[in-house]
Amino acid sequence: PIEKGWVANHLHQYQGFWHTTRQLHGVLTCQKHFQAQDSDILLVTNPKSGTTWLKALTFALVNRLDYVDHPENHPLLKNNPHELVPFLEVKLYIENQVPDLTTLTSPRIFSSHLPYVSLPKSVSDSACKLVYLCRNPKDTFVSLWHFTNNLRLKEKGANSLEEAFEKFCRGVSLSGPYWDHVLDYWKASLERPERVLFLKFEELKQEPALHLRRLAEFLGCPFSPEEEASGLVDSILKLCSFDNLSNLEVNKTGILSSGEEYKAFFRRGEVGDWKNHLTSEMIQRMDKITEEKMQASGLKF
Ligand code: A3P
Repeated sequence: PIEKGWVANHLHQYQGFWHTTRQLHGVLTCQKHFQAQDSDILLVTNPKSGTTWLKALTFALVNRLDYVDHPENHPLLKNNPHELVPFLEVKLYIENQVPDLTTLTSPRIFSSHLPYVSLPKSVSDSACKLVYLCRNPKDTFVSLWHFTNNLRLKEKGANSLEEAFEKFCRGVSLSGPYWDHVLDYWKASLERPERVLFLKFEELKQEPALHLRRLAEFLGCPFSPEEEASGLVDSILKLCSFDNLSNLEVNKTGILSSGEEYKAFFRRGEVGDWKNHLTSEMIQRMDKITEEKMQASGLKF
């Protein structure tokens, strides 16, 4: 039986990874019922790796033809990216709920924090595409700490940074161990590059246009010369930028059906905020774990 509980103190291990109660029910339901289609796009992340940004970019990219003439009608101006690209195991397939997905138009875009090993069988049996966005572990941890504290504060009071850090390093974090989550998708992207695209938050920040074009090519919808000439790449990047999304009225005031305020998904959106939070011992420890775990993989941050 799965105990009741919501936040990081009530995590359950399943197939080697840690989930909240709600998430675990979702994982099990999704594994049992989700039927992937060849044209599906699945955006996968470790929590706090830039999921919101990836959702916005992919939604804007895939649906770009619909709003060229009327950019003022763009759904991202009125809807939080999490409403436009729903989570499989946190939103659609929650406990005892099997959603009706027949009304969704193709390509369907979903998101997930599922570890590679826990993906529903229909995902590996189909030709659907997986996009994995990875973020360096120190920023991911700091972002996660802020996010869970935001939720916890309303219930019980804050979780100390030290306590959360200790657990994160031991692998006990939302969808953790962080490193195993990343590595499994990294390996999959090397083995099946036509199926799995591996992106990094830091590279996306540094050269957004380059990686948006990579994403478009991977998804089979590269930018045409006319689109390039019209500046569409930059328009999409601007629409999905941290400054733009976080300042939209909907994202300042809205609340997800699962209870989180939309604004909790926009904090700083930068690389290197860990420098403002971690002690030198913490940095050394995290770097050592990362080095040991990633050593043979060729993956670097
Ligand atoms: P910080 O807490 O470091 O600011 P997720 O979307 O996976 O929950 O991750 C949230 C993190 O991504 C937060 O990081 C958030 O600020 C950042 N983020 C959200 N939207 C972004 C955007 N459009 N561009 C860059 N970063 C963004």
